[in-house]
Amino acid sequence: MKTYSVCGLWTLLMYIISISSTSSDTDGTVQHIVALVGDDAILPCTLSSTVSAVYQSVEWQRPDLKPKEVHLYRDEKDDLVLQNPVFRGRTSLFKEELENGNASLKLTRVELSDAGNYTCYIPLLDHQKTIIQLIVGRDLQLQQEL
Ligand SMILES: *[C@@H]1O[C@H](CO)[C@@H](O)[C@H](O)[C@H]1NC(C)=O
Ligand SMILES: *[C@@H]1O[C@H](CO)[C@@H](O)[C@H](O)[C@H]1NC(C)=O
Repeated sequence: MKTYSVCGLWTLLMYIISISSTSSDTDGTVQHIVALVGDDAILPCTLSSTVSAVYQSVEWQRPDLKPKEVHLYRDEKDDLVLQNPVFRGRTSLFKEELENGNASLKLTRVELSDAGNYTCYIPLLDHQKTIIQLIVGRDLQLQQEL
């Protein structure tokens, strides 16, 4: 059984390496984040300059979902009224990081269905949307035993 998990980890590692090396060549604006089911993931989004985002609104979305809201922060607090229920209780911003312009999203207990493209948008300061592609892997050892 030991050899299985080492082999699985190695496969995952090579997979991550191949993803991260191809992504920078093809599309510099899409960042890939890899997480395993059940893990927590941090989807990065930072303002280009070190400007505080505390008084800005931060909008995280999954454009392919309906409703597409993942996490909305405005007027110095979270506004989760429009949040897609699949993310309920699983998203947060790092409040103490916002003043450094860091609006990264923490997604807890990642599920297979969380795989997809997330956009981070800070309307007032940054007209460019940050796109994060989240790739979700199963536990490879479990998969091989099935
Ligand atoms: C933003 O904050 C998160 C959580 O503290 C941290 O993991 C990440 O490295 C930070 N990003 C930058 C660019 O500092
Ligand atoms: C996410 O974006 C990537 C790169 O733009 C694209 O290849 C992929 O099909 C998208 N995935 C979804 C679920 O829309």
